[in-house]
Amino acid sequence: MSKTILITGASTGIGAGTAELLADGNEIIIHYYHSEDKAKKVKEIVEKNNGKGFLVKADLSTEKGCLELVEAVKSKYEKIDVLFNNAGGAIKRYDIREIDWKLIEEILSLNTYSAMFLSSKLVPLLEKGDKPCIINITSVAMRNGSPSVAVYAASKGALDTFTRSLARALAPKIRVNAIAPGVIDTPFHEKVTAPEKMKEFKDSIPLNILGEPRHIAEAVQFLIENEFMTGATLDVNGGAFMY
Ligand SMILES: NC(=O)c1ccc[n+]([C@@H]2O[C@H](COP(=O)([O-])OP(=O)(O)OC[C@H]3O[C@@H](n4cnc5c(N)ncnc54)[C@H](OP(=O)(O)O)[C@@H]3O)[C@@H](O)[C@H]2O)c1
Repeated sequence: MSKTILITGASTGIGAGTAELLADGNEIIIHYYHSEDKAKKVKEIVEKNNGKGFLVKADLSTEKGCLELVEAVKSKYEKIDVLFNNAGGAIKRYDIREIDWKLIEEILSLNTYSAMFLSSKLVPLLEKGDKPCIINITSVAMRNGSPSVAVYAASKGALDTFTRSLARALAPKIRVNAIAPGVIDTPFHEKVTAPEKMKEFKDSIPLNILGEPRHIAEAVQFLIENEFMTGATLDVNGGAFMY
């Protein structure tokens, strides 16, 4: 059965890769903010892959932008089946002594507030969906800690905990899970990771490869399909974190 799948931050990286993998037979709501041209290319690929694409622009680091996305979705769809809270980023690297209030707000708004707020406001549409689920993206950084992006790591830790509360609150109708990616080679790192550092990351990963968007897209597909999973976090990281 065709699903309606909202992917935030679907213009590049993991979100784009997931839109392309899940396109076949489905309607993908491709959310973006800065990268309009890239979002349009994702729509073209979704349509080439036998899916339908619908583009929505919104700044998810603000309440106003999140509400714009909710309203745009509500005005076109009576229900959605999947909400993939993927938009996010580390913004920059910094010394712990340089953290200021504005930086904390900026990082938490983008990575944590938006996913919490969208999940809450989209429950009515998900409740009408077919085997609905929410998937949140967290990070290996919330497992291992990361001194140069400490606020980002904490923002993902908060979202990971929220995932379990939401899973309990919305069961049995809506399943809620998270994916904690390791280092995935996407535009995320263009702003925050020098090429030498990417090589260091690769060398430190037991499987000795960097992740690709498809590795996370496949985990998203698995969580959509597996009807016995809720409140879980899948670690997809090449062995960078092991229990
Ligand atoms: N790559 C990694 O190693 C890694 C590891 C762990 C977790 N993650 C998480 O995975 C998710 C996807 O990241 P990625 O690696 O695919 O990086 P990416 O290619 O930079 O994608 C980030 C997405 O977030 C969107 N975004 C950024 N600022 C936004 C804003 N203010 N409002 C709305 N959307 C905004 C971007 O859309 P626009 O460009 O259109 O604004 C983009 O589509 C993020 O939550 C990230 O924290 C990534």
